[in-house]
Amino acid sequence: MIQYDNLMIPIPANLNLKDGKFVLSKNSKIHSTKSVANLKHYFISYFSENFGVTLESSKEYLVENSINFKLDDTLVKLGPEGYELIITDDHIDVRSSGEAGIFYGIQTIKQLLPQDGDETALNQEYNGAIPCLIIEDFPRFNWRGFMFDVGRHFHSLDTIKRVLDLISLLKMNVFHWHLTEDQGWRIEIKKYPQLTEIGSKRKDSKVGGWTSKKYRGKPHEGFYSQEQVKEIVQYAKERFITIVPEIEMPGHSSAAIASYPEVSCKNKNIDVPIKFGIFSDVFCPGKEITFEFLINILDEILDLFPSEIIHIGGDEVPKKNWKSCIDCKRRMEEEGLEKHKELHSYFTERISDYLKSRGRRTIGWNEILDEKTDVGVIGQFWAPTGKKQVLKHIRKGGEIVVSNFFHYYLDYNYFVIPLRKTYNFDPIPKGLKKEHYDQIMGVEAPIWTEWVPNTDRLDWQVFPRLAAVAETAWTLEQNKNYRSFVNRLGKFNQILDSMDVKYASLDEVNPKSVKRFINLRRALKWPEV
Ligand code: ACM
Ligand code: ZN
Repeated sequence: MIQYDNLMIPIPANLNLKDGKFVLSKNSKIHSTKSVANLKHYFISYFSENFGVTLESSKEYLVENSINFKLDDTLVKLGPEGYELIITDDHIDVRSSGEAGIFYGIQTIKQLLPQDGDETALNQEYNGAIPCLIIEDFPRFNWRGFMFDVGRHFHSLDTIKRVLDLISLLKMNVFHWHLTEDQGWRIEIKKYPQLTEIGSKRKDSKVGGWTSKKYRGKPHEGFYSQEQVKEIVQYAKERFITIVPEIEMPGHSSAAIASYPEVSCKNKNIDVPIKFGIFSDVFCPGKEITFEFLINILDEILDLFPSEIIHIGGDEVPKKNWKSCIDCKRRMEEEGLEKHKELHSYFTERISDYLKSRGRRTIGWNEILDEKTDVGVIGQFWAPTGKKQVLKHIRKGGEIVVSNFFHYYLDYNYFVIPLRKTYNFDPIPKGLKKEHYDQIMGVEAPIWTEWVPNTDRLDWQVFPRLAAVAETAWTLEQNKNYRSFVNRLGKFNQILDSMDVKYASLDEVNPKSVKRFINLRRALKWPEV
């Protein structure tokens, strides 16, 4: 177990602290191999914006008092995201076989730099003393994700960029963008303008939590134009983050149905809902126009998002309207389907086959999994009730991303999910044989935003729990230690302070057991923000 308390999150695979310090100051030089010159400029900008010092470049490698980024094929054993970082009193040397590895080495350095408030940084000119060390590092999981629901509440482009900055600092590499919901359709689709003209707006919003009867008393709206989406995809790429877009289907689709009622069973006008929950207006898998509509939408999505993996939702699908729909009835007869659940499987198969024909892979919430699911489809394991199907899918060769709701749902309050509980969660499902461990692609923590209308609330819900998720995602299991993590949070929070992140305090994130018990009812109540 590594016990270096004032260091970074996530803790690296191997870390060897040495005596002495390297001092980064205006006299330091910076060098990179040509192929990672963009990362040199990224670091120069970061350092100049945060510490007011512009570093000068050096053409030569490892000159006196220098910081160096070098692609190095001898390090392929660490993988393209792995890196070696050597800090001596004379220089900093980051090497990796891949650009991503250099980027992650830089994130480590960012976390080692003394922040405002640290004694060493309190000179008139920045003289940041960093401990000498040797790090050899690589991630435990390939999928290190954060999901942001912008459907329940729209959040601005700047907020998305800030989130991307924050997750990259934690070496996370997947931003799952939950773009459509009952309460709002948030992405411009050129072929179907009503999706945003109608579907991105609602008249009001419930406030105060699940048991509340209050409304905010004002409309809510917002969407991202395709130009803005391109900007975000590029911004993410520069931070080695893949954006996995989610277009929810067939459920959680009231906003789309409010815009185009003909793709529902009842073909009836509805309003974009102002309450939250599960709604029975879902896409009709009996009608061909539904598939035409969704495939046209996906075509625009595929043009915007280079991600191989595309999320199609698939959770919480009420079958009520399907049961009374003549189109659904005919479809079931034609396809020889007996149960309405099989109609969901039929729907998923058509969509995932289409994505496959376009060279992409489907991911969906664990409800999409059944015996017939294509082995290339990825299940996102959120509900413990889905465990049987998840294990079956794995046994047949399928892959899974773990988002267990009772540990990783960042919208739950700290009485229900204290920091310690998130940190100590082991994402390998109990009972899974060792030979299948590598089919767990990784972990992802979602924030659902029914009660998260602004950035302050977002910050408070997400931090510090996301740092705990990130450590599980990156750090080898044997190197994880909750006490060490909490000690390192102090330093990490200084960086969050510099970014004006309103994280929850340590007093708030681990309420005492008695208090937790008494306050469980608060799980349903939320401040009226
Ligand atoms: C979910 O929380 N319904 C995926
Ligand atoms: Zn129908």
